[in-house]
Amino acid sequence: MLERLREECYLNLNPLQTGGRTNAEIRKTALQFVDGYSVCDYCQGVLHLIEKPPICNLVKELVEFLDMDEARLTLGAREGKFIVMHSLLLPGDAIVFDANRHYTTYIAAESVGAKIYEVESIGYPSFEITPEAYRKTFERVIKETGAPPKLALLTHVDGDYGNLTDAKCIGELCKEYGVPFLLNAAYTAGRMGVKGKELGADFLVCSGHKGFGVPGTIGILATTSKWVEKVFRRSSLYDKKEVELLGCTARSGSLACLITALPYIKERVKGWDEEVKKAQWFVEQMEGLGGITQIGARPTQHDLVRLETPILREISKTHRKKGYYLYYELEKRGITGLKPGQTDWFKLSTYGFTWDQVKHLFTAFEEIVKES
Ligand SMILES: Cc1ncc(COP(=O)(O)O)c(C=O)c1O
Repeated sequence: MLERLREECYLNLNPLQTGGRTNAEIRKTALQFVDGYSVCDYCQGVLHLIEKPPICNLVKELVEFLDMDEARLTLGAREGKFIVMHSLLLPGDAIVFDANRHYTTYIAAESVGAKIYEVESIGYPSFEITPEAYRKTFERVIKETGAPPKLALLTHVDGDYGNLTDAKCIGELCKEYGVPFLLNAAYTAGRMGVKGKELGADFLVCSGHKGFGVPGTIGILATTSKWVEKVFRRSSLYDKKEVELLGCTARSGSLACLITALPYIKERVKGWDEEVKKAQWFVEQMEGLGGITQIGARPTQHDLVRLETPILREISKTHRKKGYYLYYELEKRGITGLKPGQTDWFKLSTYGFTWDQVKHLFTAFEEIVKES
C-alpha cells in the first residue's frame, strides 16, 4: 500500500507544501468526495453555480474575501494566469512580468505567443523587484512597440526568495500607464489577507493547494467587473459554458475541501503577523550560528526563507555521509522537507508551526552545527 506520513510524523519544511497542509476536517471532506465527479451530483451545467455542495456560496465568499467582483475556480494558479493571458493577448503582444516569476508565468506567456519583457530585480543578495524597475520596463515597451504592454503581472511573493513586493505601488503604476494588472497571489492569498481591488489588481490568481490548506489541484481566478465578459465569455453553441474555462475546471473533491477550508482560512490569515515573527526569529537565530545568511529582502516578510549555508557545506566535506548528512540528521530529529544532499543553500518554510516547533527546528540546526 502506498504510504505518506510526512505531515503526521515530521515537521515538513518544504515551502511548496506548508500552506497546503490539510487539517482533520478537510481530510474528512476529501474522503466523502473522493469519487470521480462527486461534486457534480446536483449540477445544472455550471460548476460555480452548483448549490449542493454550496459551490455558489463559496464563490461569493471568495469574491468578498479577496476583494474582487467575480471569481471562478481553476485547476491552479498557473491555469488562472493562462486563462487571463489567453483572453487578453494575441501572438506578439507585449507582456511585462518580474524576473522572480514562477516558471509557469513564463510558460503561460510563451504558450499564447506573447512577447515577454522581464522586470529585472536589483540582484544579489536581496533580489528585490522595485516599482521603478516596472516603470523602466513599461517605458522600454513603449519605446520598442509604440504602445504600453497589453498585460503586466507581478508575483506578489516569489518562490525563490520569499520577497513580498509592493503590489499597491505597481497597481498604481499600471493604472497610470493603462495596463491591466494581474497579481499572482499563489504564495500570499490564504496565508495573509490579500485585498485585490485595494492593490489595484484587475485579476488575482490564487493556489488552493499552496495557500488554502486543501489537497490539489485547485486555484482561484478573480477579476473586477470590467473584465468579466471578456475572460468568462460563453460558448456560442453551449450557452452555459465559459470558453476559457473549457466548460468546467476544478470538478473534483478539492473543490468540496475548499468549501470546508474557507472559514478556517479566514481565521488563519489573522495570524499572519505571528507567522512572519516566527520566520524572522528563526532567521536571526540561524544567522547567529555564523556561516549562515538569509538571501532575499531583509528582514523577511514571509515564511519562505532562503538561506546560504557555507558552514553546513564545510561540514559535508569531512562527514562520512557527505552532503546527505544534513538530511539524515534532521530526519533523526523529526524534521524533513529539505532536498537530500543539499548543504550550500536551501529554502524552507516555518509556516503553521507553533513557537515550540520553530524553537525545536532551530535547536536541531544548532546541534548539527555544534556537534559536527
Ligand atoms: C509563485 C508561484 N506561482 C504559481 C505557482 C504554481 O501554482 P499552481 O500549482 O497552483 O499552478 C507556484 C508554485 O510553486 C509559485 O511558487
